[in-house]
Amino acid sequence: MKALFRKVGSYEKLSQLAALEIKKKIQGGNPIKLGLPTGDTPIGMYKELVKDSNIDWWNVTTFNLDEYIGIDINHSESYKNFMNRNLFNHIDIDKFNVWFPDQTDDYDAMIQAVGGLDLTILGIGANGHIAFNEPGSPFNSTTRVVDLDKQTIEDNARFFNSIEEVPTQAVTMGLETIMKSHEILLIAKGKKKLDIIQKAMFGEITEEVPASILQEHDNLTILYCE
Ligand code: GLP
Repeated sequence: MKALFRKVGSYEKLSQLAALEIKKKIQGGNPIKLGLPTGDTPIGMYKELVKDSNIDWWNVTTFNLDEYIGIDINHSESYKNFMNRNLFNHIDIDKFNVWFPDQTDDYDAMIQAVGGLDLTILGIGANGHIAFNEPGSPFNSTTRVVDLDKQTIEDNARFFNSIEEVPTQAVTMGLETIMKSHEILLIAKGKKKLDIIQKAMFGEITEEVPASILQEHDNLTILYCE
């Protein structure tokens, strides 16, 4: 494992640093492929990116990590809508370069066809999920349909009117797909995430803690704030 763990003093700082990693990649001038997350934590990072009108998005292709099944794509909490609201509606990116997993695509082949992911930003669920790879997900999994864990449904209920509205299934990039990304940046905020980060980074590498596979990645940075 070649991981860097950085605890920063504020959510603002975390968001700025995460945005900076993305900007550095884009400014390199080469075509860039990003894996992008949803959730609460990346919202600040997306705000920072939107603020910077100097970023040239023309050479950037994005692959979102996951999408719900069972809610309309126009539902405010679909991940497509989340991304449009927080990022894509505000930047000059070619909409043909923006991808979300769905049940019909061979997402992994699409990612491979453009040369693989250069940088993937991840959050982490309280149960150790990354994207929607719930405990028990095979380490060699690729993009597929999954059932959401009870805890994930409970955690994500905050975004819906009631827990009954939370989808019970999703399409997610697999753990193998994520691990193929050249660089990974995991962002997490809140003391409640510390236990699972510790377990994932220093505990046994086990499919019961999906994020523990990240210990085997050789270019991983974790940004954390309380
Ligand atoms: C959702 C997403 C995950 C994300 C997780 C944690 O379940 N599918 O990709 O990592 O939320 O989000 P947050 O950072 O808001 O806790």
